[in-house]
Amino acid sequence: MSATHSPLQRQVPKSASITICKRLDGSRFRVWRRVSLSAAMLVVGVGAVAAIANGPDQEVVPRYQEFTDSEGRFANFNTGGPTNTKKNAFFEDLGTNGRRCVTCHQANEAWSVTPGHIQARFEATRGTDPIFRANDGSGCPTQDVSTVHARREAYSLLLNKGLIRIEQNVPENAEFTVMENDNPYGCNSTTAISAYRRPLPATNLPYLSTVMWDGRETLKNADGTFKPVTADLAQQAVDATTGHAQGAVPSPEKVQEIVDFETKIFTAQTHDHDAGDLDDDGAEGGARALSKENFFIGINDPLGGNPTGKAFSSKIFTLYNSWSHIDDRRYNERTAARRAVARGEKLFNTLPIPIIGVAGLNDALNMPTINGFCGTCHDTPNIGDHSVPAPLNIGLADASQRTPDLPLITVMCNATGKITQVTDIGRAMVTGKCADIGKFKGPILRGLAGRGPYFHNGSAATLEDAIDFYNTRFNLQLSRRDKEDLIAFLKTL
Ligand code: HEC
Ligand code: HEC
Repeated sequence: MSATHSPLQRQVPKSASITICKRLDGSRFRVWRRVSLSAAMLVVGVGAVAAIANGPDQEVVPRYQEFTDSEGRFANFNTGGPTNTKKNAFFEDLGTNGRRCVTCHQANEAWSVTPGHIQARFEATRGTDPIFRANDGSGCPTQDVSTVHARREAYSLLLNKGLIRIEQNVPENAEFTVMENDNPYGCNSTTAISAYRRPLPATNLPYLSTVMWDGRETLKNADGTFKPVTADLAQQAVDATTGHAQGAVPSPEKVQEIVDFETKIFTAQTHDHDAGDLDDDGAEGGARALSKENFFIGINDPLGGNPTGKAFSSKIFTLYNSWSHIDDRRYNERTAARRAVARGEKLFNTLPIPIIGVAGLNDALNMPTINGFCGTCHDTPNIGDHSVPAPLNIGLADASQRTPDLPLITVMCNATGKITQVTDIGRAMVTGKCADIGKFKGPILRGLAGRGPYFHNGSAATLEDAIDFYNTRFNLQLSRRDKEDLIAFLKTL
């Protein structure tokens, strides 16, 4: 593990020590010991409390760094690094409430934040860590946060699912009216609508075709063409500072610093408990290989949007090709797991999916059934997001999927009188269009294991849950082995 070589690696053992606190299995304990042996002298005196805030604490984001997650280890490859966190605005307190970008985008959580770590931060600080701020960390800013008990209540969505409140006004020209907003936390305005969303990872960003779950930070030039993603990210950094951190607009230099940093980080799983090193025996997993992928807007677009004119291929992932033909004579303790990963990759690439009722696809193509694949919606080779901005409604915000911790918003389309109930209005809060109700982007599928729960509202606690959703939603009738293989594959991304 090259993560152990830098003298500034305080955060590696600290992260591992969180794992110890949670009393996980023996293999993770081995990782801890291996790290701690080489770094023990550096961490004497670093206790569990310091461990919890490791992201904001670390002095350097090195060029290459590994962290443990529930499936093994993931790596951050900082192609611009090492980065001194004391001198980069991503880690700086630019606002008024103590929030920094790193508060919600942490190196050891694949540049998102995860409930286990958020809970540890709550316990260590009695709910006063800067992530616990009433403006958007709580269910509604009007909730009581004066006692530990009250804070545990008010921040329940953040603690349980890692969700942040995003408030948007219904656009003035909207084709719809919000009739009712049944919000469990009291934010029941019908004009300023609260949604609850997972922090998308601030990594692998050069591969984005659209920024934010609803694409609201994706900007166009006057002639209708898209601005480069760096322009989107600059605007995003301004909005995150004025919004999440309740600060003034940061200077262009600070914004540039943030964008320079976040666009040079690449994150991927690098070691799997069962399959071992993910770049072993011809495989191409891991963050270094990821940083070298080719990308342009429209690469492999399934609807003919590839500017090179090349046809769509459903073969999206080619990382574990070589593991699909491991010779029996070379069978060892990793082989069964590696074959499962390879089978899962093949399923991702070839499993037929009858796509029905997906707004953004079926209606756009005027086809009641599209014979698709996972890659029809996750088409960017070896990355897995959509290669053009393509907001889609796969039904996650439907009333039928509502859990009591989420709002239920009743929306009427003015022209038709049609009523729709959703837990999040999605893209339509940006465009005002009825057709965009419940639409979200398909996010990058790398570094998944380190950043659950999944989907915009954290409704899938695990990758198993995500596969179960697809199995039901598209009536896939997956066998037990197919499910296990797909999950084994997704865990290695
Ligand atoms: C309070 C938590 C919080 C803080 C602080 C925060 N973010 Fe985020 N970030 C989020 C959430 C939640 C989303 C997704 C929101 C959505 O899509 O509606 C997000 C999305 C993003 C994305 C979009 C990635 C993608 O795939 O589209 C980037 C980039 C990002 N944040 C960078 C930053 C930067 C830079 C800062 C500091 C200036 C910052 N964030 C501060 C919570 C936070
Ligand atoms: C019809 C389009 C479509 C198909 C087919 C599809 N996805 Fe998705 N996927 C999406 C969209 C859109 C999202 C984001 C949805 C949301 O959060 O509201 C998503 C999200 C995900 C996520 C969660 C990522 C995260 O960071 O939260 C995973 C994992 C995933 N898809 C895996 C798959 C797999 C595996 C398949 C094939 C079995 C598949 N998808 C098929 C459109 C699709």
